[in-house]
Amino acid sequence: MKIGVAKERRPDEKRCAVSPDTIKKYVGMGVEVLVEAGAGEGCSIPDSVLEAAGAKIVPDARAALSEADVVLKVQRPLTAAEGGPDELSFMKRGAMLVASLNPYVAKDQIGGYAQAGIIACAMELMPRISRAQNMDVLSSQSNLAGYKAVIDAAAEFGRAFPMMMTAAGTVAPARVFVMGVGVAGLQAIATARRLGAIVSATDVRPATKEQVESLGATFIAVEDEEFKQAETAGGYAKEMSDTYKAKQAALVAEHIKKQDVIITTALIPGRKAPVLVTEEMVKSMKPGSIIVDLAVEQGGNCPLSEVGKVVEKQGVKIVGHANVPSRLAADASSLYARNLLNFLTLLIDKETKGLKINWEDEIVKGVALTRDGQIIHPNFKA
Ligand code: NAI
Repeated sequence: MKIGVAKERRPDEKRCAVSPDTIKKYVGMGVEVLVEAGAGEGCSIPDSVLEAAGAKIVPDARAALSEADVVLKVQRPLTAAEGGPDELSFMKRGAMLVASLNPYVAKDQIGGYAQAGIIACAMELMPRISRAQNMDVLSSQSNLAGYKAVIDAAAEFGRAFPMMMTAAGTVAPARVFVMGVGVAGLQAIATARRLGAIVSATDVRPATKEQVESLGATFIAVEDEEFKQAETAGGYAKEMSDTYKAKQAALVAEHIKKQDVIITTALIPGRKAPVLVTEEMVKSMKPGSIIVDLAVEQGGNCPLSEVGKVVEKQGVKIVGHANVPSRLAADASSLYARNLLNFLTLLIDKETKGLKINWEDEIVKGVALTRDGQIIHPNFKA
C-alpha cells in the first residue's frame, strides 16, 4: 500500500499532512510513503529529514499522487479552475482522499470526488465521540489558533497585558474578552490569563460557564431558560432566538465598552458565523483596542473584519488573519499529521498491510463523503 503527499499549494497554507514522526509509523506498518519534494518546507522540515524518517521523495505532485492508495492532504485538492495543478486528476480511481475538504463551503467539489471514483473523507466531520478525540482536526487546529489569536492581539496592542508596578508608575492589566468558548476560546482564555490579563468570556452553551470560571475568567451571559436549554447533543452551539440574541447583545454591548482586547471564535457548523461585535459596538470601544476575529473566514463575528488583513476602524485594530493554524505551521502540522495517522490506523489491516474499511463504523460514516462513484454522506446527498 502507498500513501501519497503533495505539497500544499493553496494560498496561506504552510502545513503538511505528514511529519517525520508519522512517516516512521506508516513505514513501521509496512506502508510506503511518497512525498513531493518541498512538501515540508512551510513547516521547516527539509526533504532530507522526511527521507531519513522513511519517505520516498518524488519530484512533483503527479508522482506523489498517481500511485497512491491513500492521499493525505491538509486542504482540499486544487482544481484546474482554481489555477491547478488539477490534483484530483492525478489520483487513481478507488483511491482514498483524507483531508480537510471544507464540505459545507466547497459543496460543488463533492460531486467531483464521486465522479473521479475517489473515497473522499472530510476530517472536519469527525464525530465528537471520545474514541475519535485523537483524530479531531478541528480541535487540534483550533487549540493552536486560540493561542495564536492572543499572541497576535498582544503584538498589535500598544500596551502591556500584565499589571506592572514600577518606580515610574503602575501599568494597568489589559482586559480581554473571549467570545465563543469552544476549543479555541478556552485556549485563548488560558493564554490571556498566562499573560496576566483580566479575562472574561461568553458563550451560548451553558456548559462553558463552569469551564470559563475554572480557568479564572468571568462568565458574561443572560442566564435565562433558553440559555439553560441551549446545549445540543453533539456539543455544538445551535442558533438562539432573536429575543435571546437581543438581550445578550445588550449585556455584551455594555461589557465591550470596557474591554481592551476582544477575541471572537464563535462558529455554528455548516452555517455562516454569527455576528457578535457590531459596528456600533466597535465605535463604543476605546481607541487602541484590538479585535481578533477567528471566524473571519466563515463570514466573521465582526462585520468590519476582513480576511487576511489587519484593518483600523474607529481607532480599533481588527485582526482578520486567514488560516491562523498555518501561522504556527510546525506545531499545527505535527498535530494534524497525528490526527490523520490515528484515523488511518483504524483503516489499515495489520495482516494484509492494506486498507480494510468497516463502513458501519460511525467514525467512517461520519467522515466519508463519496464511495463507488456516489455521494454517500447524508448531509450532502442530492
Ligand atoms: P466551534 O468552533 O463550532 O464554535 C466555537 C464556540 O462558539 C462554541 O463554544 C459555540 O458554542 C460558540 N458559539 C456559537 N454561537 C455563539 C454565539 N452566538 N455567541 C457566543 N458563542 C457562540 O466549537 P468547537 O470549539 O469545535 O467545539 C465546541 C465544543 O465541542 C467543545 O467545547 C467541546 O465541549 C466539544 N468537543 C468535544 C469533542 C469530543 O468529545 N471528541 C472534541 C472537541 C470538542
